[in-house]
Amino acid sequence: MTETLESRGAANQSGAHINTDAFAEAQDFLPLKGIDHVEFWVGNARQASAYYRALWGFTPTAFSGLETKVRDRASYVLQQNDIRFVVTAPLGPEGEIAEHVHRHGDGVKDIAFAVDDVESAWRETTSRGAQSVMEPTELDGGDDGILRRSAVRTYGDVIHTFVDRSDYHGAFAPGYRRIKRPPAAAAGLSLLEVDHCVGNVALGEMDRYVAYYRDVFGFSQLIHYDDKVIHTDYSALMSKVMTNGNGRVKFPINEPASGKKKSQIQEYLDWYLSSGVQHVALRTDDIVTTVRLLRQNGIEFLGLPHEYYASLAERVGDVGVPIDTLEELGIEADRDEEGYLLQIFTRPVQDRPTFFFEVIERHGSRGFGVGNFKALFEAIEREQAQRGNL
Ligand code: FE2
Repeated sequence: MTETLESRGAANQSGAHINTDAFAEAQDFLPLKGIDHVEFWVGNARQASAYYRALWGFTPTAFSGLETKVRDRASYVLQQNDIRFVVTAPLGPEGEIAEHVHRHGDGVKDIAFAVDDVESAWRETTSRGAQSVMEPTELDGGDDGILRRSAVRTYGDVIHTFVDRSDYHGAFAPGYRRIKRPPAAAAGLSLLEVDHCVGNVALGEMDRYVAYYRDVFGFSQLIHYDDKVIHTDYSALMSKVMTNGNGRVKFPINEPASGKKKSQIQEYLDWYLSSGVQHVALRTDDIVTTVRLLRQNGIEFLGLPHEYYASLAERVGDVGVPIDTLEELGIEADRDEEGYLLQIFTRPVQDRPTFFFEVIERHGSRGFGVGNFKALFEAIEREQAQRGNL
């Protein structure tokens, strides 16, 4: 890898500590092809499916439930380009899904990895200390072939399933059937892939999970943001970004830091009642059109004040979109040594102030928008105060 940053090993101007050797350092005992799917456990999968279809432009492609002889849960698979979501709800008051929804509300249960060898992935991770959730298992799909899976735990109640689809040709998994004539999804959006998934963990646990992803999954640390960088007058957080060897999987991990008032990370933990996934960032190549359509469809985003945009051009230069357009749509911009990015954050997408989405368009920058953190956190705190949680 060519050295493009002079700031290796030290804080750059924005205060982020970037490790340009991160990809080379990542171990290859766990080759991951990417994120296979993200599964949400929710109170009502039918309605969640309609939300992702009608507002976010996802096409329902497969279903599992009573009609496919599954009697404890209903699941819908939703697809847009390389993004695959699964929403699953319990069909009764007992069991792990009902308990999960009862405790956490709607949230991410599984960030599943696509692999070539679920046996090796399970053995390599469990032998390094991961707790098993599912031993290597062959799911028989009859004429559709065999789907192989295994799974291990991570922070909170979140798991990582390893999925091998190489000998399987059916709908999402055995027990699912294709939705042959799905209702029309919202048109015109271009969400391409999962860019990164952020975990919120309890105070003092960030380094434990950084070590977990390093030692158990072979990830390496890409960036470290300390609480001197990510703070407002009131609250702070610390964040480290872990990545796998091919860079396709990026997991920032946040923990709350002390401030005069409650960190937004602590607000999440108070309402999710454990560590969990804070946000999933979806990459687009046309954030202006995509956000305009999402707003028309009723998605609510965090709003930044006019002052943010008044100084933006000076800070980031030309980002290919007029500043007026960014302000109209509420899109933020940031630039680092490698390029720039455009990003926006939704409000929480369920009743509790927990999980939300980010939409991101990258032009060279592999960062996470550290230049926007302060303005964003002040925006979040305004909303936290309205909720009585600051
Ligand atoms: Fe993010």
